[in-house]
Amino acid sequence: MSEIRIVRTIHDMRAQVAAWKAEGLRVGLVPTMGALHAGHLSLVDQISQKADRIIVSIFVNPTQFAAHEDLDTYPRQEARDLEALAGHAADCVYAPLAREVYPQEFATAIHMQGPALGLETDDRPHFFGGVALVVAKLFTQSQADVAIFGEKDYQQLLVIRRMARDLDLPVEILGAPIIREADGLAMSSRNAYLNAEQRQVAGKLSGILADLAVSDLPIEEAENAAREQLLEAGFTQVDYAALRDGDSLQAIGADSQHRRALIAARIDNIRLIDNMPA
Ligand code: PAF
Repeated sequence: MSEIRIVRTIHDMRAQVAAWKAEGLRVGLVPTMGALHAGHLSLVDQISQKADRIIVSIFVNPTQFAAHEDLDTYPRQEARDLEALAGHAADCVYAPLAREVYPQEFATAIHMQGPALGLETDDRPHFFGGVALVVAKLFTQSQADVAIFGEKDYQQLLVIRRMARDLDLPVEILGAPIIREADGLAMSSRNAYLNAEQRQVAGKLSGILADLAVSDLPIEEAENAAREQLLEAGFTQVDYAALRDGDSLQAIGADSQHRRALIAARIDNIRLIDNMPA
């Protein structure tokens, strides 16, 4: 496989994509914040079925972090990420600097409702505005035909689909199943923060989520039972343990076609999220 090209400017990204499109090639984008793990690599493998050329973007997006969050300490390891991509179908890594993405006097925001309401937003009100903004920019910068996002961030996937539809961005959006460790822990760049003891606790999350997903208790009781299980397992705070309509993420109603179980819980200051069909 030929060497992966690293592109750092919007100008060079567009020139590369224009050349590919002139050859009639279909371009795929895998947006990431780096610290690549098997979950990201599986996104690259999956999009390769749908695209002739693949861009992996690596950009730790400041607008999706609040002042008290881990922007400064978020793992940045470009050399390792490039090694991890070797042997996968990525043609190009797009790793712009923050000042390229957000030039001085940047003045535009995206404010979203619909699937952005509740759950993650209750705790992180800034989050989806920042995600929608950077993803919209990555779509217009890369002019990708297709992009892929992991279902681990299920609410994020719904938000991005809605944003792309609402803004008429001509990109097909694929969702990809969660990749899990042997004990069920969903892969995440933030798992790198867990020490051995915290990692033990984290390994119990997916089992508790599975219990919530199949519970035949009334919804509120099932959610409360999951909260209790999480605290007993050693989680120090439960942000939410919820059963929701899988399409809207609102309360389950008589017309709900799919249900989703979703959990966000913390072990000390490390916040983990997971979800599955219910
Ligand atoms: O899921 C992520 O890694 C990020 O939220 C994304 C979609 C790359 C936007 O910064």
